[in-house]
Amino acid sequence: MKVKIGDSVLDMRSVWYDRENRSVGFIDQRKLPHSIETYEANRYSEVAFAIKDMVVRGAPAIGAAAVYGMVLGYHEREVERAAEMLKSTRPTAHDLFHAVDYMLDAIREGKNPEEAAESYVMGSLDACERIGRYGNELIEDGMRILTHCNAGALATVDYGTALAPMRFAHRDGKRIFVWIDETRPRLQGASLTAWELLNEGIDHAIIADNAAGYFMKKGEVDMVIVGADRIAKNGDFANKIGTYEKAVLAKENNIPFYVAAPLSTFDLSIDSGDDIVIEERSENEVLYAQDCRIAPEGSKARNPAFDVTPARYVKGFITEKGIIEPEDVWKLKANVL
Ligand code: MRU
Repeated sequence: MKVKIGDSVLDMRSVWYDRENRSVGFIDQRKLPHSIETYEANRYSEVAFAIKDMVVRGAPAIGAAAVYGMVLGYHEREVERAAEMLKSTRPTAHDLFHAVDYMLDAIREGKNPEEAAESYVMGSLDACERIGRYGNELIEDGMRILTHCNAGALATVDYGTALAPMRFAHRDGKRIFVWIDETRPRLQGASLTAWELLNEGIDHAIIADNAAGYFMKKGEVDMVIVGADRIAKNGDFANKIGTYEKAVLAKENNIPFYVAAPLSTFDLSIDSGDDIVIEERSENEVLYAQDCRIAPEGSKARNPAFDVTPARYVKGFITEKGIIEPEDVWKLKANVL
């Protein structure tokens, strides 16, 4: 992704592995957009911390962090412990579990862990690029697209999932405009998606989460594209809290609602969204905004990080295999797609 620092533009990934130092590097997403800092993990426990504390976040980026964390675990001679600790960080994103299991298999089969991890990451990168190309075919010149949270290059290794089609459309010269939900409580839309689109030169506006329906009803949204954290066999999917209500509003206003996600996000072992474990984070993320308490002392809060959107609201899943209709998701398991 393009990262503008002063007058220079760097090409960076959100997560990388330094073979010489045996360390994992991250763009520290807790610090954006105010400062561009990196975070270095030298032990698998530090990678686990980075995932839990959201130095790195977004399902495919968490998957990439996990494969590198497993490489460190291998060198620390604690493969099983590393797998257990990494899996315990965040429960909802399927990519995390997929990535750790992939590395456990690779290590058991005697593969070189560095090479296995790199091949996972290259596959993830390739998937996002293909998502970008397939998704671009859905975007017409002049479209106004709404997105929720950050499903961009920061949330993957590069390109993004929901943002990849927008990147390719923009690079093809299509004039697009992006509505960004601010995404309380952690503001991934306002702080991360806006930062990425600004770096890419894509026209956009941030809106309060509860303004989406207003703009949809006025006819100012042509399409919705969001990412996903886990997709069940029946096409129900989990994504950042607030996605469900955007999907319902999109249907009410006849706006096509797409979900962009790589196959690593599909959990074909579960029948429906009812089986998805939803992470509940600290109430302080709701009670405070940017370290400032906004609620009376003594008030409590609830803070589910994700919600589940039923398959009937989804027009299609944009994947590296092309667009998959929700009723066809099960075919991925049967290998008939
Ligand atoms: O809590 P987060 O910031 O990790 O949640 C991220 C999302 O919900 C994304 O939309 C999802 O992981 C897809 S990222 C390509």
